[in-house]
Amino acid sequence: MVKRHTAVALLSLMAGFCAPAALAENNLESKARQQFQPIPTTPPELPGNPATPAKVDLGKMLYFDPRLSASHAISCASCHDIGLGGADAEPTSIGHRWQRGGRNAPTVLNAVFNTAQFWDGRAKDLEQQAGGPMVNPVEMASPETHVAEQLKGIPGYGDVFAKAFPGEPDPITLANAQKAIAVFEATLITPDAPFDRFLKGDENALSPAQKVGLAVFMDKGCSACHNGINIGGGMYAPFGVVEKPAAEFLPPADKGRFMVTKTASDEYVFKVPTLRNIALTAPYFHTGQAWDLRQAVAVMGASQLGIQLSGDEVDKITAFLDSLTGEQPTVTYPILPPSVASTPRPQP
Ligand code: HEC
Ligand code: HEC
Repeated sequence: MVKRHTAVALLSLMAGFCAPAALAENNLESKARQQFQPIPTTPPELPGNPATPAKVDLGKMLYFDPRLSASHAISCASCHDIGLGGADAEPTSIGHRWQRGGRNAPTVLNAVFNTAQFWDGRAKDLEQQAGGPMVNPVEMASPETHVAEQLKGIPGYGDVFAKAFPGEPDPITLANAQKAIAVFEATLITPDAPFDRFLKGDENALSPAQKVGLAVFMDKGCSACHNGINIGGGMYAPFGVVEKPAAEFLPPADKGRFMVTKTASDEYVFKVPTLRNIALTAPYFHTGQAWDLRQAVAVMGASQLGIQLSGDEVDKITAFLDSLTGEQPTVTYPILPPSVASTPRPQP
């Protein structure tokens, strides 16, 4: 690490002697490298939950299996569609009995790199998070004890769980389902975005407009919150640091992280969302009320930094944000074990 930084410093020094333009370029690159890291090309390991091919396969099946929901109509993929950037293109999601949830569905892509899950960070990791939606009454609405019962009622799952959790006498449990889903989600990473190639030294990976956008993004202070590997996902911040956003974006009822910590200073504090693949996941904000990425950028300038970005600055930042779209995961749709006569039936 130290060595690489020295090499970068030396290179930019040498470039300085050669040509001023090259120096500016190298400065941008080295400044960016101090604040952002590329997405790795292989899934990260989850502590205490080692990935095996059998566990990833099971996790994928569960992710796509609508029978984890009371109605047998809603799967994780209903609201986190891998073909839609890991989100659902709805302001707030439609769940059990056509109910609307209170918040916009964040992407599952690269979620493994977030320091906590949900807009308010109430789940510490993917494993804990995965237990939430199955039993949430407005999402999949399965009673907690029903999940294992349902899976045990689908005979084909017996073998698959046994392979994923070898040596366990009773492997079909909600906890194991959560573990398997988490290791599958850890595979949903999107390496090799133009911005990643830039961070790895390919100067031509970004267009001139994107480079200006990156510089503005760092100089104006967006990267004070949106930084690291996920260009976000690493901290909490109030929505409205300087100026309260319009009530459509920040309705008074959802106090964000306050609901988790009950601490006054956490009112209207939200997890800083990742900006990876942001061009694919409109609408924006926890309310899903901004359909235009340019509008979201302008709102951020005013609410978080107290500045009115010019139309040109908004365009350039948005161009930079486009460079955060990575290689989308290739997921082969799993064939799920069939229901049999004794399988618990869907509940209306
Ligand atoms: C009915 C829609 C719906 C279903 C079904 C659903 N989710 Fe979600 N998911 C959401 C919403 C909405 C949020 C944000 C809720 C919040 O922050 O309070 C969310 C949050 C998440 C997050 C956190 C991402 C982040 O950056 O904070 C992950 C991971 C996730 N869901 C995975 C899953 C998995 C795995 C399943 C299946 C077991 C699932 N979801 C089922 C709508 C859904
Ligand atoms: C003080 C921290 C902070 C700063 C500075 C900041 N943001 Fe944000 N950003 C957030 C938070 C928190 C949210 C979530 C808002 C919400 O609750 O919907 C967010 C949301 C966003 C979103 C919507 C993401 C989504 O998935 O819906 C975009 C786009 C965005 N920011 C871009 C920017 C840009 C561009 C800048 C600089 C002009 C910037 N941000 C500055 C904290 C910050």
